Amino acid sequence: MKEHVRVVILAAGLGTRMKSSIAKVLHQAAGDTILNHVLRAALAVAAPENITVVVGHQAEQVRKSVRFTGIQFAEQKEQKGTAHAVVCARDQAASDEGLLLILNGDGPLLKAETLKRLLQSAGDAKTGGTLVTTVVQDASGYGRIIRSQDGMIAAIREQKAASPEELQIREINPGVYCFRAQPFWKYIEEVRPDNPAREYYLTDMVEILRAHGFAIAPLLVEDETELLGINTRVELAVADRILRARKAEELMLSGVTIEAPESVRIDAEVEIGPDTVLEPGVQLRGKTRIGERCHVGTGAILRDCQIESDVTVYPYVIAEGAVIRSQAAIGPFARVRIRADIGRDARIGNFVELKNTDFGAGSKAQHLAYLGDSSIGADANIGAGTITCNYDGQHKNRTEIADEVFVGSNSTLVAPLKIAEGAYIAAGSVITKPVEADALAIGRAYQVDKPGWARRRREKVSAPAK
Ligand code: UD1
Ligand code: CA
Repeated sequence: MKEHVRVVILAAGLGTRMKSSIAKVLHQAAGDTILNHVLRAALAVAAPENITVVVGHQAEQVRKSVRFTGIQFAEQKEQKGTAHAVVCARDQAASDEGLLLILNGDGPLLKAETLKRLLQSAGDAKTGGTLVTTVVQDASGYGRIIRSQDGMIAAIREQKAASPEELQIREINPGVYCFRAQPFWKYIEEVRPDNPAREYYLTDMVEILRAHGFAIAPLLVEDETELLGINTRVELAVADRILRARKAEELMLSGVTIEAPESVRIDAEVEIGPDTVLEPGVQLRGKTRIGERCHVGTGAILRDCQIESDVTVYPYVIAEGAVIRSQAAIGPFARVRIRADIGRDARIGNFVELKNTDFGAGSKAQHLAYLGDSSIGADANIGAGTITCNYDGQHKNRTEIADEVFVGSNSTLVAPLKIAEGAYIAAGSVITKPVEADALAIGRAYQVDKPGWARRRREKVSAPAK
């Protein structure tokens, strides 16, 4: 039978070594906060209502930063140590039977599989708990694992309290604990702040539980990088690199070609379909979703975009909030500033900017245009240099262009404006009034030709001065 699991995540500290006014768990790696990365792993083993985050520093911002719904919170008003932080979650957690999983909030690299393994072995064992341990190159700053003769954990010694011999130990406590809930809550009050920092150390629970006859077992995890705790911005950059490499690897294994995986930046929530190719230096941010068989060119930066299948994004496209439908192509050097819906088979070319615009199926704007607050129907052609004048200094106004309209090059469309189906706008026009279906609208000065004028001028300038 699967046991009940309560997760408590410790996230109340400021994190002095970050040298920041922002709480440590709010710092970002790979496009998400440290805390959200920890929560993503926790949610693989527990329902949100069984997860409690202990907040303290910038409690309100930390709560708001959580992107998953249903997560519980407890407040630690004063940061008196990791055991004290767990006690702050007692109201939600103490009545639970089963297992109590406690995670430091500053370990964004922790994998869901490791938590599953931990719960498995803690559940099977007749012990007071199982703690993840790992062997690191440089153990400084970490609590050291003191093993007993039988291979169980006898104690965790914090750096400040460790003897010179204990400091040599490279097996450390990464802050991933699974205790049996009942004895834990029964004896937690026995933790005393009898250390140089005057803090209530969660790590003291090992010796306390042992004294009451509960063994504490280790679960040694090979990959130390997974257990890196973030204390400085240097470690944050390391975590960022590892998370991004992991994301790229996961995508490649699911069928995405990434030409230079070390050069791309893909946020945690991004999804990409098989046979899509990413050229070097692509950045996919936020909740971007890309379908199958797309091609994304060098230097493209896409944030919160939804891209269907068989879409081509040429190099250096910068888009935010764009929906790009099947078989469409955009770029190079195009920009979607705020939201656009680009229809099936449509073509947006170089130096075209779209803002809050629906661009119909099969329509084309191949070069140098600004289309803002507009809707363009299907199979329309927007000539080079077309500008929708959407702002009159006070209000934003809409331009509506119906199906199969032809807008000649360098047209100025002064909104609010409607151009009806099949109409034709002569190149170089300034259009201020509605254009009816199938009409030709010309809004420009007529051309005046003066025969021989140029020759006469040349002769005049080249004649010697008198
Ligand atoms: C802790 C462990 C140490 C371990 C290391 C792993 C203790 C006493 N020591 O040390 O054995 O090797 O993590 O990274 O637990 N927090 C609170 N309230 C507090 C204090 C801390 O919520 O009063 C939170 C912090 O926000 C952080 C986590 O607990 O997310 C760990 O705190 P931190 O101060 O980083 O502990 P370490 O000194 O790294
Ligand atoms: Ca830490």
